[in-house]
Amino acid sequence: MKINIAIDGPSAAGKSTIAKRLAKQLGYAYLDTGAMYRCVGYEASRRHIAMDDEQSLNKLIKQIRITFDEHGNVYMNDENVSDSIRDSAVSAAASKVSVFPKVREQLVAMQKEIAKSKGYILDGRDIGTVVLPDAELKIYMVASVEARAKRRCLEYQQKQHPVSYETVFKDIEQRDYRDSHRAASPLKQAEDAVLIDTSEMSIDEVVKTVMDLVAHVK
Ligand code: C5P
Repeated sequence: MKINIAIDGPSAAGKSTIAKRLAKQLGYAYLDTGAMYRCVGYEASRRHIAMDDEQSLNKLIKQIRITFDEHGNVYMNDENVSDSIRDSAVSAAASKVSVFPKVREQLVAMQKEIAKSKGYILDGRDIGTVVLPDAELKIYMVASVEARAKRRCLEYQQKQHPVSYETVFKDIEQRDYRDSHRAASPLKQAEDAVLIDTSEMSIDEVVKTVMDLVAHVK
């Protein structure tokens, strides 16, 4: 029997890498909820909408359709935005638009609709607490800011888009602060979530740890 898996935690803790690997091994579908906030932030900046103009942001969401394909590509109104939304300016924009309850409400409703059947892995900040409070397995993934900044730097380098360690470090700290101090669904561990600190773990080790947990749920 398939289950739903919620993976929450701060940015760059390894959530999406692990979620993708798990989805492949289990034959589950993966939904990257952060990509949806990124699409809103990206489109808002393209349309010169201020990141604190809640009303315009609400209207904007009604005009955009976010879809995913089986290869992990993200489309906004049929435009492939997979690469554009990974930019560090878009990361900051996503974290700014995500503080508004109305913005969250609309995206959460979409996420619940997509994952209403079992066999989904969702990653984000509020999956175990708000989006899928009934998920059979909840993981709260953390890592030190240093470990996360190192990983993000490497990712940017591999994409031929190097960003300095200091910039990435500061960006992560600021996003951590905003994500955990906002009034609407702040980042926090669900009471029934399993905490995994990935600072000193390899991807394979984390995947194995979660696969063992899945085996115990079934
Ligand atoms: O996970 P990712 O880094 O792509 O998310 C980008 C931003 O979107 C986060 O910093 C956070 O502010 C917001 N977010 C959120 N709730 C989610 C997923 C992402 O608030 N479920």
